[in-house]
Amino acid sequence: PTPIKLAPSILASDFTRLADELRAIRSADYIHVDVMDGQFVPNISFGFPLLEAVRRVRDADQTGQFIDVHLMVQAPERYLEQFAAAGADGLTIHVEATPHIHRAVQMIRDLGKQPGVVLNPGTPLEALRPVLPDVGLVLIMSVNPGFGGQRFIPQTYERVRTVRRWLDELGSNAELQVDGGVNAETARLLAEAGASCLVAGSSVYGPDGAEAGLARLRGALA
Ligand code: DX5
Ligand code: ZN
Repeated sequence: PTPIKLAPSILASDFTRLADELRAIRSADYIHVDVMDGQFVPNISFGFPLLEAVRRVRDADQTGQFIDVHLMVQAPERYLEQFAAAGADGLTIHVEATPHIHRAVQMIRDLGKQPGVVLNPGTPLEALRPVLPDVGLVLIMSVNPGFGGQRFIPQTYERVRTVRRWLDELGSNAELQVDGGVNAETARLLAEAGASCLVAGSSVYGPDGAEAGLARLRGALA
């Protein structure tokens, strides 16, 4: 089987040392960038200037990592072009954030970026079925978005199994990503349930540094 991809969330990193914190995860497949607008979620994180900085470090280091932008933003259509220009490789939008999810997915594709869709823990999985054939990534939230360091919601395993089945039935090789409360224990069970890419913030950027955090996760998945 193909190894599970890891997507460290820089939300949990030390922004005073952003370049070093990015270099510490240079072996990870994805760089996960959490944008929060204070409207869709009850928190504000960061926006275009930080994404541009991430892109500059990635390009300077030529790591080839995928810049995976998770937009916790109401009506994301308003900003897709700017996020594409600021350096995203993939843009993941919440089905709860727009009445026109299909149009927004097409907009991302037209911008030449990989479209992704994401569901909050309380949203029925059916909401993503109409766009499933059109996306390169499906993200299942395993916490309520807005904050790092929350507890994993165990109903997520069953949701991942269902979406895995739908993707296989479609013959889709879209990434099946999970975000929130991912640590060595939950990572192993998510891999078994059929996830292909795991976001991890606090379990990577912990007190012993991101290299050790990444190694711990990889060890659990080996
Ligand atoms: C939550 C964000 C997550 C978060 C994950 O709103 O979307 O990406 O940074 O953090 P941990 O891994 O600490 O739950
Ligand atoms: Zn995220």
